Amino acid sequence: MRFRCNVDRLKFLTVILLLALLQPWYGYAVAEYILRTMDPSAPLKIYEVGGGTGTCANNILTYFKLRAPNVYKTMTYTSVEISAALAKKQKARVEAVKSHRGHFMVNCGSASDPRTWGTANADPCYVVMFEVLDNLPHDLVYRETPKSPWLETWVVRNQTSDSLIEERRSLQDPLIKRCLDVISQVPGTSSLVASAKSTLSRLLHFSELSWIPTGCLQLLETLHRMRPNMALITSDFSSLPDVTISGARAPIVASKENGETKDHSSYLEAMGNADIFFPTDFQLLERLDHYAATGSAEIETSERISTVVTSAEFMEQCAQVDKTKTLDGFNPLLEDYSNTKFYISLPSL
Ligand SMILES: C[S@@+](CC[C@H](N)C(=O)[O-])C[C@H]1O[C@@H](n2cnc3c(N)ncnc32)[C@H](O)[C@@H]1O
Repeated sequence: MRFRCNVDRLKFLTVILLLALLQPWYGYAVAEYILRTMDPSAPLKIYEVGGGTGTCANNILTYFKLRAPNVYKTMTYTSVEISAALAKKQKARVEAVKSHRGHFMVNCGSASDPRTWGTANADPCYVVMFEVLDNLPHDLVYRETPKSPWLETWVVRNQTSDSLIEERRSLQDPLIKRCLDVISQVPGTSSLVASAKSTLSRLLHFSELSWIPTGCLQLLETLHRMRPNMALITSDFSSLPDVTISGARAPIVASKENGETKDHSSYLEAMGNADIFFPTDFQLLERLDHYAATGSAEIETSERISTVVTSAEFMEQCAQVDKTKTLDGFNPLLEDYSNTKFYISLPSL
């Protein structure tokens, strides 16, 4: 589902292909981490947000079946999936393994909507999500100088030309306000600093354009409210290559035309028929997660512990890395994830 880059981004494409090719080892590594950190005295509960076609769910369940049959016997794995078509695919894929049937269920709905989660439940559980944050909604904010107020962006239809245009309005959205509050507490996340494209002219103009992860904050707020004792394991792209759209944390927007992938320099060009994906600022993600859990963006609290690691570091600790080494010693599981990271956050007991 992510094969959306042109040849210029072959390296990036290679990384994405590897995510699929490196199964089951990727899913097995996540399962191993869970096995090492879980409370063995209670039945294991795993939720996966945005499980795609169900590959990871299948591999995690298989790992427990093979390595920890006693845990497997009582464990449950619930997929929370917004797409009805993918929910159906996941069920078919996982339930093709007969023994997984009693353990796997799908909850079709948005993970950001509390109603999808039913009632709040404080049992310990794991929430895993891979390559979901990059697809979640962001908001675009702008300010003229670092001392000016932030403005939010609305997309409206120009009455004369019928085209879509941006309109800057004073800040009203409470979610954007909360997100900006957290951003202001993270050292070095002013978009001037965060953007790789802090050119001299931008420095001279002082204006700031910033894509902020409001969808991520909304999802984290829902997760902490509905599963307050969750351990969260998430992985995503920490940076993206050759982004042509302006602003800090700007996305790649691409669509398929006559079989060719085309990158857009504006998200307005491709509304409705394009793929959009954003890089994740992991330092900010950690703050947003603590804020959603405790109401404070402070990381050093007694309530939760968290860490950001590169995917290679995570795999070194948890994967069977000898299984993915090629004959010449190259190990894609360790060496080809250079632009992805893991964020892990646990309740401190
Ligand atoms: C890019 S795919 C990643 C699939 C899989 N995790 C992987 O790593 O290959 C994003 C997944 O997240 C799902 N998704 C997006 N927004 C969601 C939301 N708000 N709630 C639940 N699932 C969501 C999509 O339908 C899709 O299954």
